[in-house]
Amino acid sequence: MISVKNLCKDFYFEDKSQSVLKNVSLEVGGNDFITIMGPSGGGKSTLLQILGLLTKPSSGEFYYDDNEINFKNEKLLNLYRRNNIGLIFQNHNLISCLSPVENLIIAMNTKESYKEKSIKAKELLDKVGLSKKYNANILSLSGGEAQRVSIVRALVNSPKVILCDEPTGALDSTNSKKIMDLLINIKNETKCILIIVTHDEEIGRLGERRIYLKDGEIYEVDRNI
Ligand SMILES: Nc1ncnc2c1ncn2[C@@H]1O[C@H](COP(=O)(O)OP(=O)(O)OP(=O)(O)O)[C@@H](O)[C@H]1O
Ligand SMILES: [Mg+2]
Repeated sequence: MISVKNLCKDFYFEDKSQSVLKNVSLEVGGNDFITIMGPSGGGKSTLLQILGLLTKPSSGEFYYDDNEINFKNEKLLNLYRRNNIGLIFQNHNLISCLSPVENLIIAMNTKESYKEKSIKAKELLDKVGLSKKYNANILSLSGGEAQRVSIVRALVNSPKVILCDEPTGALDSTNSKKIMDLLINIKNETKCILIIVTHDEEIGRLGERRIYLKDGEIYEVDRNI
């Protein structure tokens, strides 16, 4: 469960400050599927970066499972992120000297053998139509293929929270649907939290809770549950 109260984020540029998030409060239950939409520049990615513990809020309270997050303790933030959060962002940060399979294996924090990890990695790559790319050179992948590797990499440790920033932005409609089916299946199987930022109305409508973020303010549009 995630709870944020009166979260604010200001950015400073050349002595001017910009209020990007204004008193955002949000309670997210253990198995919620939320989609976040809204105009460009409204603060969606900033909110997701804060929820992913990558950016420090300017003020406000933030709890994961009743533990208050201390944004000053970088080591704990990294540990918490690695064990609990799957991040799917557009700058995929794959390691280019490793193959897709190796990129997944290196992200796994279980004590399984290399062989077991390799089987698991290949199963995940199969699910996103990359069976022929297990050992490809990362630099030879198309944008959409690299994005699919990064999506399954975020899932290797069965995270309690999956945060996606426009996960299907670089994909055609067939692969978009595959990714959405995969994310929703994983959410239903593992009972994790799934939060997706999207500009795609169709994906937005899939959310059980739908949130609209505009000029740093949050509105809950609809609950389908
Ligand atoms: N690191 C930063 N430094 C300064 N300003 C920033 C920074 N990150 C974001 N901003 C500003 O904060 C505002 C919100 O940006 P954000 O990326 O959260 O918007 P968004 O809703 O995700 O937009 P989009 O739909 O285009 O992705 C923008 O005006 C942006 O310029
Ligand atoms: Mg964005």
